Amino acid sequence: MFWVQFFSRHASVQKILAISCVTRRTSKSVKHGRSVCLRSIFFNSVKYYPTKLVLGIETSCDDTAAAVVDDTGKILGEALHSQNEVHLKTGGIIPPVAQQLHRENIERIVKETLYVSGISLDELSAVATTVKPGLALSLGVGLEYSLKLVDKYKKPFIPIHHMEAHALTIRLINQVEFPFLVLLISGGHCILVVAQGVSDFLLLGQSIDIAPGDMLDKVARRLSLTKHPECCRMSGGKAIEHLAQQGNRLHYELRAPMRHHRNCNFSFSGLCFNATRIIMQKEKEEGLQEGHLLSCVTDIAAAVQHAVALHIVQRTHRAILFCIKSGILSQTNATLVVSGGVASNQYIRRALQIVTDATNFNLLCPPPRLCTDNGVMIAWNGIERMRAGLGVLHSTDGIRYEPKASLGIDISEQVGEVAIKVPSLEVSLNELATINL
Ligand code: KG4
Ligand code: ZN
Repeated sequence: MFWVQFFSRHASVQKILAISCVTRRTSKSVKHGRSVCLRSIFFNSVKYYPTKLVLGIETSCDDTAAAVVDDTGKILGEALHSQNEVHLKTGGIIPPVAQQLHRENIERIVKETLYVSGISLDELSAVATTVKPGLALSLGVGLEYSLKLVDKYKKPFIPIHHMEAHALTIRLINQVEFPFLVLLISGGHCILVVAQGVSDFLLLGQSIDIAPGDMLDKVARRLSLTKHPECCRMSGGKAIEHLAQQGNRLHYELRAPMRHHRNCNFSFSGLCFNATRIIMQKEKEEGLQEGHLLSCVTDIAAAVQHAVALHIVQRTHRAILFCIKSGILSQTNATLVVSGGVASNQYIRRALQIVTDATNFNLLCPPPRLCTDNGVMIAWNGIERMRAGLGVLHSTDGIRYEPKASLGIDISEQVGEVAIKVPSLEVSLNELATINL
């Protein structure tokens, strides 16, 4: 403080002080290939001394992301490079291409993150990096880079489970106490878990084949939506959501899968197959070859989105009822957290809201930029682990990435054995289709 008062009397030095304070005081989130967003952080004093500062690094799939988060949940800075546009052109993620793009961008992304955070590597308490699950070649880039960093700067290393990080992101934004129910829906995952602690999860159900985002991406590709002027740069799921708003879902009948299986597992490949059959039939009727835009893309998008929403809602409804019936959750812990890339879909969120309203649950979703892959959730999971004293390593000998990794204790069979019949919310869900979102 003396330092500030002394220099503040000198106008020229005041200016330098202001600049150095601004770098500390203002946190920017820099995104490449996606929109840029800013987040300002206000401090009461000039010098800022958080107890813990974690750099998070994420490269599990097709986003190279980093962020610095402190132990109060403040995001000091973040940066992200999305490979989405490249993979859209090739019709899906080609792992060696993803690996190469991670290699080309990781150093720049980490440097930008530290720059906007106003934090030097020496000031970090630890480096947290996704090591599982994900694409082997992608995970390898983040891990190799991180290990060099922690070795050079003598920092603790925190290996992060990508799905645990998604599940706990909400605690950075809202005060949510354990236990709570989490639905993770993305391009690679579809799971229902109860988060009981930082590293303590119960798995209620998961997809037995593909994830909903993967299914939406496949249907969008089959519909050639990158050729549609309104959504040529959108991910498949986003494109389906966008077009569905202009369509009528009732023009095509796509039923929710697994309605007679009273468990919390999911399946999306049958839905993908049925949607493809409709597309092929329409191509025949319109005399079009595959690769050309159908006149009815909006109606097909609406029908697909509704069927996905219905399936997700039915499984989630059963999970809520199971948790209450078995005493895993009580009305005081009645929270459903929804995250992952598909959770940014407003139609699916509204459908889930109908279920949580009917069961007196509180529905919480991180903002869309924290639902998709990002560095903030990894850094935050590092903070959670530091606080809980879990998995903070001072030696990185033997650390490996794991492309496949389950989440929590699997109790999905018990859920199936209880076989709860889910009451129909068909009327409310039907109204969804007529609401202009
Ligand atoms: O969580 P995420 O960024 O990456 C992983 O898969 O881990 O999710 C990406 C997925 C993609 O499949 C994308 O099509 C889907 O999320 N997605 C959406 C929306 N935005 C992204 N799906 C439905 N509606 C959206 N608005
Ligand atoms: Zn993810």
